[in-house]
Amino acid sequence: MAFRTSARLQLLSLLLGLSSMDRSGAGTQEFQLLQPQGAVSVSAGETLTLTCSVTGLAPAGPVKWFKDSGSGHRLVYADAGSFPRVTRAVSGSDTDFTIHINDTHPEDAGIYHCVKFKKGWQGPDEEFRSGAGTAVSVGARPSAPSVSGPPSRAEPGPPVTFTCTSGGFSPRDITVTWLKNGAKLPDPQTQVLPAHESISYNVSSTVGVSLTRGDAHSQLTCQIEHSTLPAPLHATYKLSDALRVSPRLQVGTAPAVPVALNTSVTFTCRAEGFYPKDASLTWLENGNETNLGKSSALSENADGTYTLQSSLEVKATEQRSQSVFTCRVVHDSQPPVNTSAMLRLSQPPAEPGKDPTSSAGDSYLSEEKKIYIAVAVVCAVLVVLVIAVIYLIRVRQRKGKSSPSVRLHEPEKSPGPAPQDSDPNNLTYADLNFDKQKKRTPRFVEMSPQSEYACIQPAATEDNLTYADLDMVHLSKSPKRPAPRPEEAVSEYASVQIQRK
Ligand SMILES: *[C@@H]1O[C@H](CO)[C@@H](O)[C@H](O)[C@H]1NC(C)=O
Ligand SMILES: *[C@@H]1O[C@H](CO)[C@@H](O)[C@H](O)[C@H]1NC(C)=O
Ligand SMILES: *[C@@H]1O[C@H](CO)[C@@H](O)[C@H](O)[C@H]1NC(C)=O
Repeated sequence: MAFRTSARLQLLSLLLGLSSMDRSGAGTQEFQLLQPQGAVSVSAGETLTLTCSVTGLAPAGPVKWFKDSGSGHRLVYADAGSFPRVTRAVSGSDTDFTIHINDTHPEDAGIYHCVKFKKGWQGPDEEFRSGAGTAVSVGARPSAPSVSGPPSRAEPGPPVTFTCTSGGFSPRDITVTWLKNGAKLPDPQTQVLPAHESISYNVSSTVGVSLTRGDAHSQLTCQIEHSTLPAPLHATYKLSDALRVSPRLQVGTAPAVPVALNTSVTFTCRAEGFYPKDASLTWLENGNETNLGKSSALSENADGTYTLQSSLEVKATEQRSQSVFTCRVVHDSQPPVNTSAMLRLSQPPAEPGKDPTSSAGDSYLSEEKKIYIAVAVVCAVLVVLVIAVIYLIRVRQRKGKSSPSVRLHEPEKSPGPAPQDSDPNNLTYADLNFDKQKKRTPRFVEMSPQSEYACIQPAATEDNLTYADLDMVHLSKSPKRPAPRPEEAVSEYASVQIQRK
């Protein structure tokens, strides 16, 4: 029952509403202007729809659209006039003043007002009622980015700057990422301009990249992410456009020098691992260009660099002895690089200086030879000196050891009649008591102011006497004789000479 009643009431109110519209001018309903959208965001190029409707009794007069932005207050739409991108949603309606704006631009951003005017009887129309306003932001997609490299090619090593730019986007927030062969690069410097609020912005991002030899195959990518983009934008840069790798030169001969006179020698030059591939190779003989070289085809290495090889076949004549063959390479309009090898004969010419037309290179070489000879002579003299010094040292050492020496022990007990007391000349004797029966024959051993007397009583038999048996030497220091340097080592030793029968 309740449902039926409410349905009936609704129907009634609808009928009343319709009848009130029919009888316009009756003044039963208050005028209302409705602009329900608070904020609308649209992407550039899309169609923007702005809603506005009026209800109730309205005075005579038009409804128009205005935009307020940084550039001022501007008429967007009116029934009269030309507004090429704007159309009414319900053409000719008295209540629905919704409009469509096609192909929006970033400049379309601003606050839009729907305004009802009252017809002025004598003057211009007066503003009667204004809608709350709709803030429109136009998201603009960044343009396709582009990457620029250094102004000229760069060698591997120090960082090279690359720049990525894109523009015309809104809102301001944007993310720029740099990738090298898919791997993210650190520390890009990204700047968005202008710094103040604007209808659109530009971005510029730079990154430093250290090139490597193998970068001929590498790729740099600038990736841009923005709220208006369904997928990031990419721009790529082939690092081969920025890379220069200088060749490494190697010169060799076949067969290896020195070579026999009048044989054929092939000099080979290898210019290895350069990029880009434009390189020219020339041969010089003693500084003079020769066109006898034969270059092989350019070959590409796995890392994208190139290698060029050339050979030069010459006859090893006497005149060419010690000639210098130079391989010179000009790469990528850079200053030339060169490497040389010398032709040497296994049997050098008998008289190298006899040729009157010997070139500057030859004289330079004989100069070099002289230096070698001088160095060899100096070395030989040094060696002789060293041998002489060693010999002298040996001789001295042998002299020191040549006479048998016996370490003298301190006397254990007072010896018998010692001859030292009766010797006023301070001479050293070794008194070897080999046999009790034999008369003791003191032997002169050594002459020294610091000498001592020694008396040896060996326990062994006469025939088997060894130096070891001389262990027991009774040293009897003369108590009267003052020792000038008692601590001297030489006074500890006595030389013993044993004469056998
Ligand atoms: C953005 O770049 C465009 C063209 O590259 C230029 O015309 C415009 O002035 C730039 N805008 C700003 C704010 O730098
Ligand atoms: C090398 O060749 C020259 C001429 O080409 C000749 O005069 C000379 O005798 C030759 N020497 C030897 C060792 O063959
Ligand atoms: C080889 O290069 C050096 C510099 O590296 C230069 O001084 C020399 O003149 C060059 N030699 C030739 C024959 O080009």
